[in-house]
This record gives sequence, structure tokens and C-alpha cells, in this order.
Amino acid sequence: MGKVLVVFATRAGETEKIANLIAEGVRFTGNEARVKNAKDIKNETDLQGFDAYAFGSATYHGDMMAGMKTLLFLAEKAGLEKKVGSGFGAFGWSGEAPDRIFETMANIFQMNMVTGPLRLKSSTLGGGIQMAQDYGKQIAEKLQV
Ligand SMILES: Cc1cc2nc3c(=O)[nH]c(=O)nc-3n(C[C@H](O)[C@H](O)[C@H](O)COP(=O)(O)O)c2cc1C
Repeated sequence: MGKVLVVFATRAGETEKIANLIAEGVRFTGNEARVKNAKDIKNETDLQGFDAYAFGSATYHGDMMAGMKTLLFLAEKAGLEKKVGSGFGAFGWSGEAPDRIFETMANIFQMNMVTGPLRLKSSTLGGGIQMAQDYGKQIAEKLQV
């Protein structure tokens, strides 16, 4: 059984809902998932001991939230190379945050990334629930190979 850590940064709660749905998708596969707010990750040791990571932030003013930036600087020192990586986030129209998070995990942390980030306008609209749960399953599948 693999362990997946899902960390989110949110202002209005949508990205937290997506984080919980991704965790549900992971658990459907029989793997373990922990969900944490980026604000509660205090140092790099809080990030250790997992096989896969999903980092997510809402997009505000074309950018990820400050809490996710701080988290990514901590993650740089956490030795995540070759671990399974993924990025997600709620957005309104441009959705830069999930892309930037995903690119950082791929290029700086050298993680084993899933096919792309999950960008959702809402956790409930347009099949969002299913898409987020399926993203969790995709993360878990990557643990097997
Ligand atoms: C002041 C403000 C600025 C925003 N800027 C952006 C933006 O630059 N690009 C975008 O795609 N969405 C933008 N949004 C929309 C949010 O990303 C969207 O409402 C998202 O669902 C919020 O996620 P959260 O509930 O996790 O905080 C903005 C929303 C507000 C209120």
C-alpha cells in the first residue's frame, strides 16, 4: 500500500474540496491518503515518508497563493526526487497555479509526474467530482509502475 500526501492552499475553499476528492480517489484504490493545508506544513520533515505528492493552489491574480510558494521552497529540501508528483487547483479563467506547481515539481524536484495538472473551475461543476477522484486514481496507478 502506497502513501499519498495531498497539500492544498485555498482562500474560498474550492481547492480544499478538490484535495479531498483526490484523496478519495486514492483511497478507492486501496492506498492511503493524507490531506493537509499548506499552512500546517512547518518544515521539510513534515513532507517526508510518502510515496506520492499532490500539491494544489487556487489561482489569484495570475499566481499561486503565498502558502503554496512557501511549501514549494520547503519541498525543495525534502528529497522528493523520483517520487510520484501531481498538481491541481481551482481557477476562474486563466488557472496559472496548477501549471506552475506541476512544472516546479517536474523541473526542480525531478519527480515522476502524472500526465498533467488537474485544473477545475469548481469541484462540482462540469464533472469536477469525477475528474478529481479519477486524478487520485491516476496518482495511485503511477505508484504501481
Ligand atoms: C480577487 C480575485 C482574483 C482572481 N484571480 C484569478 C486569476 O488571475 N486567474 C484565475 O484563473 N482565477 C482567478 N480568480 C478566481 C479563483 O481562482 C476561483 O474563484 C477559485 O475557485 C478560488 O479557489 P479557492 O476557493 O480554492 O480559493 C480570482 C478570484 C478573485 C476573488
